[in-house]
Amino acid sequence: MSFKRQHRDILWGGATSASQYEGGWLEGGKGLDTQDCRPYKKRISNATVQTRLLTKSVIEEAKQSEDVHAYPFRFGSDGYHRCLEDIALFQELGLQVYRLSISWARLYPHGDEETASPEGIAYYDQIFQALKKAGIKVFVTMNHYALPLYLVEKYGGWTNRKLIEFYIRFAKTVFEHWGNIIDYYLPFNEINAGYFSPYNGVGLVREEDIPYDQSKVFQSLHHQFVASARVIELGHAMVRGSFGCMIACFCYYPYSSRPEDNFKMVQEENTNQWFCMDVLARGSYPSYMKRFFEERNITLDITEDDVQVLKDHTADFVSFSYYQSSVVTIEEKEKTAGNLVVSTKNPYLKATQWGWQIDPIGLRTTLNKIYDRYQKPVFVSENGLGTKDILTDDFKIHDEYRIKYLQEHFAQIDEAIKDGVDILGYMMWGIVDIVSAGSCEMEKRYGVIYVDADNEGNGTYQRYRKDSFYWYRDFIKGRREDENSIR
Ligand code: BG6
Repeated sequence: MSFKRQHRDILWGGATSASQYEGGWLEGGKGLDTQDCRPYKKRISNATVQTRLLTKSVIEEAKQSEDVHAYPFRFGSDGYHRCLEDIALFQELGLQVYRLSISWARLYPHGDEETASPEGIAYYDQIFQALKKAGIKVFVTMNHYALPLYLVEKYGGWTNRKLIEFYIRFAKTVFEHWGNIIDYYLPFNEINAGYFSPYNGVGLVREEDIPYDQSKVFQSLHHQFVASARVIELGHAMVRGSFGCMIACFCYYPYSSRPEDNFKMVQEENTNQWFCMDVLARGSYPSYMKRFFEERNITLDITEDDVQVLKDHTADFVSFSYYQSSVVTIEEKEKTAGNLVVSTKNPYLKATQWGWQIDPIGLRTTLNKIYDRYQKPVFVSENGLGTKDILTDDFKIHDEYRIKYLQEHFAQIDEAIKDGVDILGYMMWGIVDIVSAGSCEMEKRYGVIYVDADNEGNGTYQRYRKDSFYWYRDFIKGRREDENSIR
């Protein structure tokens, strides 16, 4: 029996995504993408739901609108102009790995061109070279929600098999240009988001007030599965890095010991959480989905080639986002919000200002379960506290609540390592403040680096180190010293 990581030698990192961070929505020849069309709505109870369900008329309005302030992803955190300044801060922080995504529409403005945009390549080239120079490992999410809008309007998003071909072309460009720098690849962010948030996940536009056709949703996901496996096949032949898959994890608990509550939990865990990873890490559709599809009249076009490619090209590592645990019951109980899913309230937990239930032990539980299920190394590719911060008159941010959150979650990571989980690394979400993917707000901040901007895009966009910046810096430094003393 061998356990690869008995010590604490995991990579401590930070993460962002292109659409939430970059801004520069039409600069450098970038094409319009799906996230550029999502409007900010002042906080109303179901704002998150509304900002995720895009209809044709909302997109038409967005395309005509010149009001940049109404569309927060158009300015992001101004990373397009400040990426080098941010990388210098990451270096000061001692980040060992940085997870970023590549904007498909910046490399291929329409998504279906034969060749990539030289300006797009130049933009990412400076980032990869700077990361290399700073000695920071690179973790690339090839596609984190944003899709060139043209692919949605002309081809119907991921419902169309053609997208696999375009996506592989895009991936090949990434391999050819930066394959010698990138260490880890993630073909898709939170692939299970496709059925909670079909616009973000698979580029499906809703007809006004008509619910999504579930066959289309799952067919789109199937195309993403095949695209993921084919990109892994190509990547293994072309580059040295390793390839993962990622889901959003919700750490389900049954509300009571009643067998019905427990079984409902098993079902939700299977379909909402494990399904996509079962396909991508194990190489085939899990048996429980057969009944799920039959009961919903979902029929999929899955070819023999698809079955083979999924089987032959599974992920090298597994990864997940973790923000909250969730409770399941067959009864009607009080609900609260969470990442992608709504949960029954857990009386034992406190929640964030956005209602997400804070549960550090749930992180240890998830790490144990995921490793036990797949027996592949694990990356925590997203975790963090999204909350409001106050910038003081002397430009400080006293976020002791974030430090406490991190301390409690890191303690559970240490426990999971002792439990025998093979953890590759941890990436703090939104290491520099970014626009929220759920509610399109800037003021839901995750970073240890503060960005001076509000929900409407007003502000200087200056960066300020929060108290948690110094804490995380010292934490990483301490861990590195520990590792060196063990060696
Ligand atoms: C994950 C996404 O779902 O959760 C991120 O991968 C997102 O893009 C993160 O930002 C946190 O969600 P939110 O809604 O607070 O931004």
